[in-house]
Amino acid sequence: MDILFDRKSCRNYKSDDIPQDDLDYILHAGMSSPSAYNTRHWSFIVIKNKEIHKKIMQIHSASQMLANAPLAIVVCADLEKQYKNYWQQDCAASTENILLAATAKGYGSVWCGVAPIEDRVKGFRELLNIPENIMPFSLIVIGRSAEDKPAKQRWEPSKIKYEIWR
Ligand SMILES: Cc1cc2nc3c(=O)[nH]c(=O)nc-3n(C[C@H](O)[C@H](O)[C@H](O)COP(=O)(O)O)c2cc1C
Repeated sequence: MDILFDRKSCRNYKSDDIPQDDLDYILHAGMSSPSAYNTRHWSFIVIKNKEIHKKIMQIHSASQMLANAPLAIVVCADLEKQYKNYWQQDCAASTENILLAATAKGYGSVWCGVAPIEDRVKGFRELLNIPENIMPFSLIVIGRSAEDKPAKQRWEPSKIKYEIWR
């Protein structure tokens, strides 16, 4: 499971397309995460269109890495089907699975937050024709990395407590 430790946010991409097999693998991973009461109420908008990418970059100021990337995925929650308001946790688990699957296939990726930032949610709804019962949760940018950054070492024993908080 080295991919867990190899994953890192990538903010510089090559424009090479992602073959459909790899994209399906990555989306399958997004559908394979845990969800409260197994609701699996997520859906995914795959966006390759560069005109839409440009508009996303206007809505979401921290998504400029999309300029050269081939593809973005918006993870969405169905608010009517979700169980007891756990949609954020479910979509976060799905988002992380997508990042890990992209890493496993040798791609760079980055999670860009959408919900609960209201102007981003509104902007994504308008741009992507997302209805009110569907919540755009995250934007994931994926592609071949143009960076050569080493994986970060983040083992921090001081973060761990055993048995009780101390
Ligand atoms: C909820 C959330 C929102 C994020 N939003 C953005 C974003 O809008 N733009 C961006 O470049 N990175 C974003 N990130 C990525 C974080 O900046 C990154 O994960 C963090 O700096 C740790 O670096 P690493 O992913 O390389 O380990 C987001 C991460 C999370 C979990």
